[in-house]
Amino acid sequence: MTEQGLAARGIDTTTPNVARIYDYLLGGKDNFAADRAAAQQLIAATPDIAGILRDNRAFIGRAVRHVVQAGIRQFLDLGAGLPTQFNVHEMVQQVAPEARVVYVDNDPVVWTHGQALLARGDRVAYVGADLRKPADILQHPTVTGLLDLTQPVAVVCAAVLHFVPDQDEPYRIAAEYRDRMAPGSFLAISHGASATAEEDPTGVVDAFTNVYRRASAQLHVRSLPEIRRFFDGFDLVDPGVVWMNEWRPDPGIPPSGQATSLRAGVGRKPDD
Ligand SMILES: C[S@@+](CC[C@H](N)C(=O)[O-])C[C@H]1O[C@@H](n2cnc3c(N)ncnc32)[C@H](O)[C@@H]1O
Repeated sequence: MTEQGLAARGIDTTTPNVARIYDYLLGGKDNFAADRAAAQQLIAATPDIAGILRDNRAFIGRAVRHVVQAGIRQFLDLGAGLPTQFNVHEMVQQVAPEARVVYVDNDPVVWTHGQALLARGDRVAYVGADLRKPADILQHPTVTGLLDLTQPVAVVCAAVLHFVPDQDEPYRIAAEYRDRMAPGSFLAISHGASATAEEDPTGVVDAFTNVYRRASAQLHVRSLPEIRRFFDGFDLVDPGVVWMNEWRPDPGIPPSGQATSLRAGVGRKPDD
């Protein structure tokens, strides 16, 4: 849909949008001038930002592969973003063709595109909803139609919880998902990391935070203990919450971006 078409439907294309900034940085076409201008500011702060985002996608791939190998066949990808070249359903169905995936995003442009692009698959669906409302998502007919939530599921929250501010109670939200997930379920998270002045002497994190201050959602990076707290009630899969490139790296595949950007981990909800 064109920018004019979206504007006619009341969709704001003049405020930089977190999904479309991400799309631009990953080389996508679903973005507008305001998104590209914000993305350029991020590139100015960290020239290898696109590499970092590719590393994030690579972490998602390693995490879901691990989870598929653990026997999980149903996935809920929260804050899934615009479909990219290698989406979660492609990652998991490559190994387990029968696996089912529901994508969730609260951005109308994202899920309209998502629904159109994924319309052909019968084991994949895209739902427009806000991850801050776990009950709405977990009772959504599309979710319950495709996923059996009495059985273990993998919830993926990649590069999205840092758009949920503390006042929206992200830990209560995470706990609500956990409590509604069957034992043996998995949670995979990647999350923007805060840094001390020594760790980030050029102020990249502040520069990023400033760019997102004017965007559709603001950036709230968190410390290692804060990110680990999302896994309360889960057993962390080795090596725990680490820099995302250190989470079970594939031998022989070098990371694209800098070593310290997002932290990541995978947890398993213990058996009763
Ligand atoms: C940076 S992108 C990450 C996309 C994908 N998860 C990845 O890691 O490649 C963040 C996505 O989260 C979505 N998002 C932000 N806040 C959300 C919320 N409260 N509920 C659902 N989606 C949200 C945005 O619209 C955007 O598509």
